Formats: sequence, structure tokens, C-alpha cells
Amino acid sequence: MSHPIRIGIIGAGEIARGAHIPSYQSYGQDVQVVSVSNHNKDKAVQCAEQFSIPYAYEDEQQMLEEMELDAVSICTPNKFHASQAIAALKAGCHVLCEKPPAMTAKEAEKMALEAEKAGKILTYGFHFRFQPEVETLKKYIDGGELGEIYAAQTHYNRRRGIPGWGVFTNKELQGGGTLIDNGVHMLDTALYLMGYPTPKTVLGATYQKIGQRPGVGLMGEWDYENFSVEDMARGMITFENGSSLMFESTFAANVETLSSKKVSILGDRGGADLFPLKIYQEKYDTLVDTTPAHVEERNVHEYLVHDFIECILHNKQPLSTPLEGVLIQQIIQALYESARTGEAVNIN
Ligand SMILES: NC(=O)c1ccc[n+]([C@@H]2O[C@H](COP(=O)([O-])OP(=O)(O)OC[C@H]3O[C@@H](n4cnc5c(N)ncnc54)[C@H](O)[C@@H]3O)[C@@H](O)[C@H]2O)c1
Repeated sequence: MSHPIRIGIIGAGEIARGAHIPSYQSYGQDVQVVSVSNHNKDKAVQCAEQFSIPYAYEDEQQMLEEMELDAVSICTPNKFHASQAIAALKAGCHVLCEKPPAMTAKEAEKMALEAEKAGKILTYGFHFRFQPEVETLKKYIDGGELGEIYAAQTHYNRRRGIPGWGVFTNKELQGGGTLIDNGVHMLDTALYLMGYPTPKTVLGATYQKIGQRPGVGLMGEWDYENFSVEDMARGMITFENGSSLMFESTFAANVETLSSKKVSILGDRGGADLFPLKIYQEKYDTLVDTTPAHVEERNVHEYLVHDFIECILHNKQPLSTPLEGVLIQQIIQALYESARTGEAVNIN
């Protein structure tokens, strides 16, 4: 391992500039972002100048060959996650890949296999796991306070929150819309708290009711003429262990709140809601509700990136694993397949 750890960035857009690069740079002297690549060279150069990164590339393969990197962040549209992660792993790098892991379950499997072969870390940008409330609830669950978890429910709904930048409304480049973009964060959070059970059957429905016409854009003006993804996704997932999960997410829907997210977890000894955290139990012949008196403010993107570095430095296992990447991608793929065919989809 070189000292400082040499980091390369693939994709110089919003999440790279707003989260990954500043987070690496705030870690301190053990880490240096030495190069950035973007298929549009001007963007790479501009990003390198903005963050005082020594080298800018147009071609990530050339960067991987020349820069002797220890680790990379992949911050490109979803279509490129798998091929770029695999190339970086083959080049001997640890990889932090933005969410979702990939476009398909097969791709996520190939990424997991490559990470195993290379003996390198592969982890994903599921930063909600670093929210203090999620951490607290995980400790309650691991401590047995909720008993056996048998059901969960989650939503991430925006009233008019279709991203106006990037390629989030382009099915070819992203693989889908709200499910694979914002919904995937809550899906991952629920699965993480449930212990990532193996999915069995998925029944889903997706809708495209608002995105193909102009409207009030709370996340910028979206490209309604080329909107090719779902603006709402719903589904039910059953698992091999008998538990089940209900899911809903929207980019746009005619709901009251502008943006709302929630994860509900039900166990036989207690239940909980997240965002905000509230725990429901029966104790000493009384029904009791528990809420934290204080929730720490945190830059969760920074926590995610710093944890990635800690895992590299101290040979630690990251919170989000390649196998979980495969499982969540199986669910996403099955939900889209079920929405397309109108039939429930059995996984495996
Ligand atoms: N964790 C989060 O909360 C979060 C938030 C936003 C985005 N993301 C994820 O990050 C990824 C990027 O999103 P963004 O908002 O930064 O998008 P963006 O459009 O702002 O940035 C993507 C960048 O990748 C570049 N690019 C496109 N194709 C490329 C290729 N083949 N090779 C190299 N560079 C290429 C683009 O020119 C652009 O600079 C997506 O997968 C998205 O899901 C995660």
C-alpha cells in the first residue's frame, strides 16, 4: 500500500464533486486524490483544477494503467458501474461504487466475483446506513430488542422531485427511474435492518404518469420530452425466511408532502419507524414508545468515504458488501420484470 493512499475518481459530476472528492480530501494526509477521469475531458480538467487534483484523464483505462492507484470511486451513470468497477478491480484497486451497484443482477454478480478474485474491497454508496438514527436502530435490532423481524415497509416519495440534471430520466443509461435512483436507498436501508434476507418472490408495478409532460420542477427542469423511466414504483417482496417487505417510491406523484421517506420495521418483540426514529415496544405490562432525545448532525457522505478508507487501512469489512449488491439488484430486476409482465417473479 502506498502512502498516502492514491485515489482516482471516475466520473466528475455532482456526486464526485459534492461528496466523494471533498470527503477524501477531508480525511487528511493518509489520502490523496491523484487523478480524475471523465469521458468528457474538459469536465475532468475543470474538476482537477477545482480540487487541485494533479492529473485529469478522458479514458479511465489509461488512468488505471498509468496512475498506480490504490482505490477508485465510481461516480458515473449506472450503465458504466459494472465495467468500470471490474476494470478497476483488475487493475488492483479497491472500489467504492455509487449506488445502485449496477443495471442487472448478472452485472452485480460479475463485480462480486471480480472483487473476490482480486482480493480487493468492493463496496457501494449506500450512505443512509451511516445515518445516526439507522445506526441506533441497528443496535436495537442486533441487541434483540425487536425480536424476530418478520415485516417491513418503506417509501421514498417526492411530489415533483424529478432530477433536472444528469441522465436520471434516461432508461438506457440508468436502467430505470425512481426505483433504481432514490427508492434504492430506502430499499437498502430496510434490507440492511432486516439482515439482508434472501429474496424469494417479487410482485411490482411501475407508472409513468407525470414525467412525460412539463411541470413544476423542484429538482430543476426535467427533460420531459425524453423521459423514458418510471416516475412511480411499488412492490412487495417475500423472502426465504418468511419475512416480507412493501415498497413504494416516486420521482413525482400527487401526494401532500414535497418529499418524504420512511422505513418501518416490525418484529415480534418491538417495531420501529425511521426518519424520524421511534421504537414501539411492550415492556413491564405497558406499551412504550422510545424516541432519541438528540440526533447528531452528520455528513453521511463523508462518513461513507472515510469508512472506505478505514476499511483499506485496517483490513476491515465495509458495511455494504458485494453479496448484498447482488441481492438488491436481483430485487430491482425482478420488480421491473414483474411490472412489465404483470406477473409475480420468483428469484432463483
Ligand atoms: N449516494 C447518493 O445519494 C447519490 C446522489 C447522486 C448520485 N448518485 C449516483 O452517482 C452516479 C452519478 O450521479 P451524478 O449525480 O454525479 O451524475 P452527473 O451526471 O452529475 O455525473 C456523472 C458524470 O459522469 C460522466 N460520465 C458519463 N459517462 C461516463 C463514462 N462512460 N466514463 C466516464 N465518465 C462518464 C459525466 O460526464 C458526468 O460528469 C449515479 O450512479 C447516481 O445514482 C448517488
